[in-house]
Amino acid sequence: MARLNENYLNLKESYLFSEIAHRVAAYTQANPDKKVIRLGIGDVTRPLSSEVIDALHQGVNDMADGSTFKGYGPEQGYDFVRNAVVEYYSKSGVSIDASEVFVSDGAKSDTGNITDLFAQDNVILIPDPVYPVYVDTNIMNGRNITYIDANVANNFLPMPDPSVHADIIYICSPNNPTGAAYNHEQLKVWVDYALANEAIILYDSAYECFITDPSLPRSIFAIEGAKKCAIEFCSLSKTAGFTGTRCGYTIVPKDLKVASSTGKEMSLNAMWNRRQTTKFNGVSYIVQKGAAAVFSEAGMAQCKENIAYYQENARIIAECLDRKGIRYFGGVNSPYIWFECPNGMESWEFFDYLLNNAQVVGTPGAGFGNNGKNFFRLTAFGTKENTIEAMERFDKLF
Ligand code: MLT
Repeated sequence: MARLNENYLNLKESYLFSEIAHRVAAYTQANPDKKVIRLGIGDVTRPLSSEVIDALHQGVNDMADGSTFKGYGPEQGYDFVRNAVVEYYSKSGVSIDASEVFVSDGAKSDTGNITDLFAQDNVILIPDPVYPVYVDTNIMNGRNITYIDANVANNFLPMPDPSVHADIIYICSPNNPTGAAYNHEQLKVWVDYALANEAIILYDSAYECFITDPSLPRSIFAIEGAKKCAIEFCSLSKTAGFTGTRCGYTIVPKDLKVASSTGKEMSLNAMWNRRQTTKFNGVSYIVQKGAAAVFSEAGMAQCKENIAYYQENARIIAECLDRKGIRYFGGVNSPYIWFECPNGMESWEFFDYLLNNAQVVGTPGAGFGNNGKNFFRLTAFGTKENTIEAMERFDKLF
């Protein structure tokens, strides 16, 4: 008889955003006449930019012509994307090599798949609250997780406790769900802690494009020493509206070495390459054509227009919360606004209240961890019209 990976028994019954979709579907089925506004999952609403669309068309044309047709591509990504990423980093003063860039279908898959490289008995340090993928993928692998509290007292930016050892550390900055972003000094403390513990930081920078404060780092590799202790995951989902198109990249520095139990020095870059070449056939040529266009001058300018559109939504949400005297975090340097549920409500209770009374969908903080149980997340990725309407409905609630 086939035996199962019973670690799955330790997972919550469904993934957070599936659970929300399920509850919203039940509501809309029961209330077909009500207009529901979705500010829950961080899914973009602006169409792809014209530079990206033109490049995607070009990719399709290339596939239609025998002289430019592409079959299997390099699993690591085409050089034209890897080099574009290198140039993008160099513009913010970070030097990486194209061989350190692995193009993928997004940060969600890579942050989950990276767990393949590490042994079961590592001490995994994960902030609470956090993007649920880090927790769920480690539970699927049967790993024990040590949580580190992110809360109002530390402005949702927890710092390491030197007396607690960790082997693998997850950091997301700007943070999903709280919107909090680490500065250079704080990240340097994490890097020094990782080096002292011979730990690896798994750094999710999927929201770096929302950083407006020029003093904040956009990459962990802006911090001295990080290339010896960190892997960075980034995504075009939020930068360029690729949630449905699917493309991201992971940077695994060549300097990142870990000793095996027999003392053999292993390169994580080589191991990730081995993993990807075995389990992944790369992102489609057409999508990579579109991805490369994101990094062109005109492409980036168009992306920035869309980002500014979402930033305006964040401002509209924050302004409403200000009016209501509700304490919130994020919204600046981040597309997420993380606020305290009004009237002492718990987050799923507030989710139901908001859905039933204002037909607005958000994300309950409890879905991101225990420390989120009295918090709620709204996303700025809706349309401007819907964001305004949602906040007008919100205004009238209490
Ligand atoms: C979120 O809403 O937290 C994100 O959109 C989820 C994701 O990027 O997978």
